[in-house]
Amino acid sequence: MTHVIKTFDEYRQAWKKSVEDPEGFWAEQAETFQWHKKWDKVLEWNFQDPDVKWFINGKLNITENALDRHLDTRGDKVAILWEPNDPNAMVREYTYRELYHEVNKMANALKAKGIGKGDRVCFYMPMVPELAIGVLATARIGAIHSVVFAGFSAQALADRINDSDCKMVITSDYNHRGAKNIPVKKIVDDALEMGCPTIKTVIVHKNTGDDIAWNEGLDVWWHEVMEGQPDTCPAEVMDAEDPLFILYTSGSTGKPKGVLHTIGGYMVYAEYSFRNVFQYEDGDTYWCTADVGWITGHTYIIYGPLLAGAKTMMFEGVPTYPDAGRFWQVCEKHQVNQFYTAPTAIRALMAQGDEWVEGYDLSSIKVLGSVGEPINEEAWNWYNEVVGKKNAPIADTWWQTETGGILITTLPGVTDQKPTYACYPLPGVQPILVDAEGNELEGNNVEGLLCMKFPWPSILRTTWGDHERCRSTYFSMYDGLYFTGDGAKRDADGRYRIIGRVDDVINVSGHRMGTAEVENAINEHENVIESAVVGYPHNIKGQGIYAYVITDHNVSDLDKFAKELRAVVTREIGPIAKPDRIQVVSGLPKTRSGKIMRRILRKVAAHDLDSLGDTSTLLNPEVVEEIIEGSEKPV
Ligand code: PRX
Repeated sequence: MTHVIKTFDEYRQAWKKSVEDPEGFWAEQAETFQWHKKWDKVLEWNFQDPDVKWFINGKLNITENALDRHLDTRGDKVAILWEPNDPNAMVREYTYRELYHEVNKMANALKAKGIGKGDRVCFYMPMVPELAIGVLATARIGAIHSVVFAGFSAQALADRINDSDCKMVITSDYNHRGAKNIPVKKIVDDALEMGCPTIKTVIVHKNTGDDIAWNEGLDVWWHEVMEGQPDTCPAEVMDAEDPLFILYTSGSTGKPKGVLHTIGGYMVYAEYSFRNVFQYEDGDTYWCTADVGWITGHTYIIYGPLLAGAKTMMFEGVPTYPDAGRFWQVCEKHQVNQFYTAPTAIRALMAQGDEWVEGYDLSSIKVLGSVGEPINEEAWNWYNEVVGKKNAPIADTWWQTETGGILITTLPGVTDQKPTYACYPLPGVQPILVDAEGNELEGNNVEGLLCMKFPWPSILRTTWGDHERCRSTYFSMYDGLYFTGDGAKRDADGRYRIIGRVDDVINVSGHRMGTAEVENAINEHENVIESAVVGYPHNIKGQGIYAYVITDHNVSDLDKFAKELRAVVTREIGPIAKPDRIQVVSGLPKTRSGKIMRRILRKVAAHDLDSLGDTSTLLNPEVVEEIIEGSEKPV
């Protein structure tokens, strides 16, 4: 078990040690795991190529550490607790021993279907325990999982399958989400119809039992492939730097990229950060409301908690079904001790009124967590007072798909906290703020671009199939630094406050989206000539999507056109990328070199017209007036 920090002083000492002797610090944490062979060297790195290796030549399997290792000590304790969408349906529980056997059976089933070390397996599945079982089974045999959030469209799924040449998709028939019944398998069928030549098998988990179309020769039922499989399967012995998973995420340009994480460093950091950030104690029930389709679900529903031997809850439903009290009803029902969610959910529930919270006994909650986007002061206070009764410290956790684990956060009950501040770097994390030229901003009370100057164990290693893209996106902006894409402030006492993205990435309800990606989708509409997408402040979602669109003819029925555009975006990416506001314009403000002036578009979308700046040097200054006028009534 890695070290758990209990006091502010201990935190300061641990951080200091991790900077002065990073190799010693992380070796000490890594010692607590099961290795088939210890590493020869802890770390080799450079941020130029980039090339980062942790626990060099160490041999292990992450599932032996998440499962086998716990059998003697906590085999009969609950590992996964599953709360279904329907509050009256049956809760499912898997003890560590049961989970171990299910994962082993599935591992054998995957092998029987021709999956081996290094193969890519795509998951397109709702929040059911089988998703966790499948992911762990993949890791057990040394294959690589690529989980795609089951809200993405068939097109988006096909793109991701093809980018990493997945051999198999694992899915469910349908997914109950709130009052909806989503035809998940049908979306997989549609994706495969678009052309995914590498897919040889589709494993279908029977979730709701509703009818589905069946592709003979391709589709197999989960329960049938599992049948008769032995419930033990030797874990493939892997190198610490072998790939564990790919997770696609959006950037400011082009298509989403497959962020690659490797086994050893990710394992050590996931467990270390989980234990310290959530201050998990034996017997606690921990609940992270994220979806496993995002990095939060990977690290803090599956890997972190299971590596730590914790009881982790998976929730199939949504916060507002059957009503806006659901989260709190579930917290009471399962006596949740650590609750981790996103500011968007907090704001949405806050808007429904305190009465939805007040009827429930939330006294079991010891720690509250927030993730995915900046948390505004009002939401922070509500979370603290109405949910936590000022008794449960808040961990505002800042991190990214690329960082693999939480990098900056308060340690609940250990360090101090300050509303809207993520606060302190975890041990091993060396943040630095720079100005636009890359000069370090020293001292406190400064604001700049957030970078990291030293690798932590779970830093991304590459972007799948395109190492140059990894270099140019994260490591080329400022020499020798990892660039996060976020702007941040450091206060007088060294606490960090994350302000938000400084690139063309927007964060809508905690979902990360590239503006270019949404523009490409909009441009698929036959009447669209050009478009520009920006984020604007949104009360609930944090940011909303604002699309400026140039069409090839005068659109007479704007509502119909907007509906069509939203349908195109839903088809190309998924409903999460639908523009909230659409404005048809005759032109976009451009510089003389033809670059769209997004700064102006962002200000207009935010109704922040006082600081538009000088527009006279634009190629087409006249268009700005028109855009301002039209922004009064977007559709
Ligand atoms: O802008 C930051 C924001 O989310 C981005 C990373 O998104 P993603 O890779 O999808 O991972 C989200 C879950 C870890 C960051 O660049 N972000 C994440 N957490 C916070 C945050 N912004 C402010 N405060 C946070 N706590």
